[in-house]
Amino acid sequence: LSAGPLTGRHILVTSGPTHEPIDPVRYIANRSSGKQGHAIATALAALGARVTLVSGPVNQPDPPGVTVTRIESAREMLAACEAALPADAAVCAAAVADWRTAREADQKMKKVPGAAPPPLELALNPDILATLAAAGPHRPRLVVGFAAETEHVVDNAVAKRARKGCDWIVANDVSGDVMGGAENAVHLVTGSGIEDWPRMAKEDVARRLAARIAEALA
Ligand code: C5P
Repeated sequence: LSAGPLTGRHILVTSGPTHEPIDPVRYIANRSSGKQGHAIATALAALGARVTLVSGPVNQPDPPGVTVTRIESAREMLAACEAALPADAAVCAAAVADWRTAREADQKMKKVPGAAPPPLELALNPDILATLAAAGPHRPRLVVGFAAETEHVVDNAVAKRARKGCDWIVANDVSGDVMGGAENAVHLVTGSGIEDWPRMAKEDVARRLAARIAEALA
């Protein structure tokens, strides 16, 4: 662990997509590289924090000095996050699937020639950010969520901050080439207003956010 302004703090970060099994070979997922979430975990550790990174399936290497718990589904992500508490802050950067299949088939679903495609019944997944932000003795002091929007980016983020009960929302405009890309243009929505950050590398977004988190926890 490096020494820094976050020494002695424990911070939970979620990253990557979740995979929701349909049957043993198929799943539902969101598009997410895990780049931004992993960069945030790296930047927080560089400031001295003890970081628990709960990650869905990604092609990113485990950030050095970070405790990584790998999960697949949203329900596993929630359980891993709850097991990691208490934490001083939580940053939910994962692209969690909103729905899972109502039932997972034990065996591979067979294509029957001429038969209609099977219906997929969905069930709502738990909202990890909203759960962590809900009042309770183990609520992290600072809970940060992300909002990926293609329009009305700031208005939607302000509404999302209230709906989720979190402290900050990092809003990004994903109408361009942000998904899987190297750069991000974000707005930081806090209780005291909105900051428009210039377009920068995801690592720089991570470093700037980590510095803001260190200030907030100081
Ligand atoms: O509701 P929406 O998916 O737009 O919210 C995005 C934010 O909520 C992100 O911070 C994401 O990590 C978090 N989230 C979550 N669990 C869900 C859905 C979203 O933690 N089931």
